[in-house]
Amino acid sequence: MLTFALSKGRLADKILKMLKELNLCDLTIDDEDRRLILTTGNYTFFLAKPSDVPTFVDNGVADIGVVGKDTILEENRDITEVLDLGFGKCRMCVCAKESDGDSYKYKSNLRVATKYPNIAKSYFDSVHQNCTIIKLNGSVELGPIVGLSDVIVDIVESGRTLKENGLAPVHTITELSARLIVNNASLKTKYDEISQIIKGFESIVKEK
Ligand code: PRP
Repeated sequence: MLTFALSKGRLADKILKMLKELNLCDLTIDDEDRRLILTTGNYTFFLAKPSDVPTFVDNGVADIGVVGKDTILEENRDITEVLDLGFGKCRMCVCAKESDGDSYKYKSNLRVATKYPNIAKSYFDSVHQNCTIIKLNGSVELGPIVGLSDVIVDIVESGRTLKENGLAPVHTITELSARLIVNNASLKTKYDEISQIIKGFESIVKEK
């Protein structure tokens, strides 16, 4: 028996499709379905909020999780990242008003609005720049526009949201994508079952 923590939506659908391709499980989730736990054959799936996936895996109630690298870095849980699934690619960037260019580098106490306070703090610590982090829960682009912050640290995928709001990426902190994470104890106690999943997913990722 293996338990997966997934985030509902595109990501969960993609993982179920991959398990189907490997002939390991034949489950689809209906958009109307409000159940949070689904069981079929040897697998149980929790449908969690993305930022909670590492919590379920760290605590051992889920053996495996699928989550963005941004969440892994932000949550900093004691889990093992075993595979880059290669989809959901985007970047974590410092972004500023187009007209400001990279002048943020020379500010002595930079105001940074972000949904990712830990990632932002550790980045500015690593470059020895003092900053004040302002936590927002969404629409982070508003920060520099309304004068709440000098820059934002946020996910950039197509770059459209930035462009349409007069902002631009000025530094890439890290590349991001969906990752497979595993509970450290499960990796030992359920080694064969988990290896089968990792190898199967690896073969699908390589084909694409
Ligand atoms: C994310 C991110 C950016 C946007 C980037 O926001 O925070 O705002 O997507 O995508 P793009 O580069 O393709 O435009 P999300 O959709 O999660 O909404 P949010 O503003 O509520 O965080």
